[in-house]
Amino acid sequence: MIEMWNKRYAQIEYVYGKEPNEFFKEQIQKLPNGKILLPAEGEGRNAVFAAQNNWQVEAFDSSSEAKNKAENLAKEKAVKLNYKISSFEEAKYEENTFDLIALIYAHSSNRQQNHQKLIKLLKPGGILLLEGFSKYQIKNSTGGPKSLDLLFSPQELTADFDELSEIELTETETYLSEGEHHLGRASIIRLIGKK
Ligand SMILES: C[S@@+](CC[C@H](N)C(=O)[O-])C[C@H]1O[C@@H](n2cnc3c(N)ncnc32)[C@H](O)[C@@H]1O
Repeated sequence: MIEMWNKRYAQIEYVYGKEPNEFFKEQIQKLPNGKILLPAEGEGRNAVFAAQNNWQVEAFDSSSEAKNKAENLAKEKAVKLNYKISSFEEAKYEENTFDLIALIYAHSSNRQQNHQKLIKLLKPGGILLLEGFSKYQIKNSTGGPKSLDLLFSPQELTADFDELSEIELTETETYLSEGEHHLGRASIIRLIGKK
């Protein structure tokens, strides 16, 4: 899997573009600045946007090419990121330290354990944002994992994040235009929750 991502990111083009995800952009602008964690952050489009908006940014991804691309984008935009090469399982951060954790197309195996681990890292009152492909996306060829197990359902996400309050979950169809790999009509889920 890591090899697949390293190969995808080895090209000069930013495969999901350099602009942040629209939902992420809209939501982060409503929140006061603080410390954010971006797991599985890929080429850094969301991390760089957060840093440009004066957030203190921590990010990780298991792909070393992702880190290179993210650091190059940060240099281009003259912002600072703290970006580690790490899997969800290996990721080590102090508990109760993040004001915001944003999972943007962060599909992984061990979904439930990974999500529950992240809740511990949020400060009380901290916000969790998620946008990812729903199980209905299996019928589309506009992006996302080709395995149902890696796609999200409202029931799974509600159970993963049941420790959070004020949960807003939307399963919807949208038009994605995020580089060449998220392009066209897609079935997605968005979630906002508070610790
Ligand atoms: C679809 S990309 C999304 C990247 C970024 N969040 C964005 O929206 O541009 C998924 C990312 O998840 C990373 N990834 C997959 N499984 C992972 C795992 N177990 N631990 C950490 N990163 C993982 C991949 O390397 C890839 O960069």
